[in-house]
Amino acid sequence: MDDSVLKVSWSMKDPPVAPVSWHVWPEYEGSTAGTAQEAELEAGLGWAAGTLSVLGEAFDMKLGRATGWESDRPEVRDAARVYKRGVARRRAGDKVVRRPLQGRYELSVWTGATPPRLKGGSWQIVDGHVARHWPTAVRGADDLVITLTEHTKTLTSVAQILKAAKAAGSPQAWRVLGGGILADVAAFAAGLAGATVEFVPTTLVAMADACVGGKTGVNFSPYGKNQLGLFYFPSGVYVWPGWLRTLPERELLAGSAECIKHLILAGAVPAARAFAAAVRTRDETAIAAALPAIMDYKVQIVADDPAEIGRRAILNLGHTLGHALEALSQERTKGETTLLHGEAVGLGLLFSVLLSRDLGHLSEGAATELSELLHEAGCTRSLSDLQTRLGVADIHDPALLQDLKRLIGHDKKNTPQDDAATSWVLLQAVGTVYQAQANRWTTPVPMNALDATWQRFLSALG
Ligand SMILES: NC(=O)c1ccc[n+]([C@@H]2O[C@H](COP(=O)([O-])OP(=O)(O)OC[C@H]3O[C@@H](n4cnc5c(N)ncnc54)[C@H](O)[C@@H]3O)[C@@H](O)[C@H]2O)c1
Ligand SMILES: [Zn+2]
Repeated sequence: MDDSVLKVSWSMKDPPVAPVSWHVWPEYEGSTAGTAQEAELEAGLGWAAGTLSVLGEAFDMKLGRATGWESDRPEVRDAARVYKRGVARRRAGDKVVRRPLQGRYELSVWTGATPPRLKGGSWQIVDGHVARHWPTAVRGADDLVITLTEHTKTLTSVAQILKAAKAAGSPQAWRVLGGGILADVAAFAAGLAGATVEFVPTTLVAMADACVGGKTGVNFSPYGKNQLGLFYFPSGVYVWPGWLRTLPERELLAGSAECIKHLILAGAVPAARAFAAAVRTRDETAIAAALPAIMDYKVQIVADDPAEIGRRAILNLGHTLGHALEALSQERTKGETTLLHGEAVGLGLLFSVLLSRDLGHLSEGAATELSELLHEAGCTRSLSDLQTRLGVADIHDPALLQDLKRLIGHDKKNTPQDDAATSWVLLQAVGTVYQAQANRWTTPVPMNALDATWQRFLSALG
């Protein structure tokens, strides 16, 4: 089969979001520096002392992406650059200029029997499991081999990569071989170092999702997932589905849920069925044939709205409940029991389909067709399995839904009000997102509207 090449053009502004209001940071007397450990991390990241305190304060104040920051302090400048992937900053009295940025890169899919031969000259960062299964992927002594998890998807790992880059002579061209976690963290580091970054994704999540779209980032405890980062686009993406031969079954299925999500949004149910079958049988040729369309769907959405100001939000289909299930599972279970992101999203997709129908936006027929697809694609699981993965004694306990609502409301302490609205991507038809108003891609849904759908969701699994 011939290689397929997608040419991707992107353009956005820096800062990504136009500010609609301003937060004026006070001019502190003296230093805002934190602990010695924080100072060491800030130095490792090349940030001014006190940047981490500014970030923490901004999260505590719940500053949104459209609030610009006014201050002369360097730590505010450094924090503004990465807070929720960048907010506007100005010195008192200055105007904000949003610089247009643009670029192009190629996304190629190679279908040979062995890994593609990539040009030399790039400094490589290789996922530890990939290095173990594919020793020839590691080129030289300078390569950094590193294994990260959601727990180490942190600023500390970004600093570790920057340190290794320095030790390797501060190379200006980097290449990342690994899954979505390594891609997100290493590309964030590359953005801070001003180096170019090529992606060689080795998981299905990374191929179909993480390596397309320019989002990089890390988790920032206790403020949540992917809260700090940069929009930073790769210089090229080289997909070779052969890497998936060594990917554990669970990881493959979890990645398939994100692919199914793209295909549902694209309105391609037959293609989604075929893809699910290809994943079930690990049919590499069929997976390779399907990948360009799956990636292209995201490429098109991102080209329209790279900074996720509008339509890009539809890619969060299934993620409102998905993130809450993932977070709860992480709070209460450990190791193999914990739900993977894609597994949680698969369940979230089913919930979104049922909620869209219960709210009267999606027809019964379409909801049934999509529910069957999700079952077939392995996105659903038995009630007893879900119970174990959520670490609860009884899946029907009303306290479980309360906990999920708390997480959906992003509030760590309070029980949300029943009429508090949360944002959902809902479907109106296969391939069409429900829009209550033009240019609005998410719909506010009150918490108490989730109760009936939660019961139907449990019955659909049971
Ligand atoms: N930036 C984005 O737009 C975007 C989009 C989707 C997901 N993500 C992020 O991606 C992350 C999830 O990525 P993921 O699912 O790829 O997880 P991952 O990077 O943790 O990889 C999964 C596991 O597979 C191992 N592995 C990787 N390639 C392998 C191979 N070929 N053979 C054997 N083992 C291999 C890894 O070491 C890891 O243990 C999440 O943190 C998520 O936030 C980002
Ligand atoms: Zn996702």
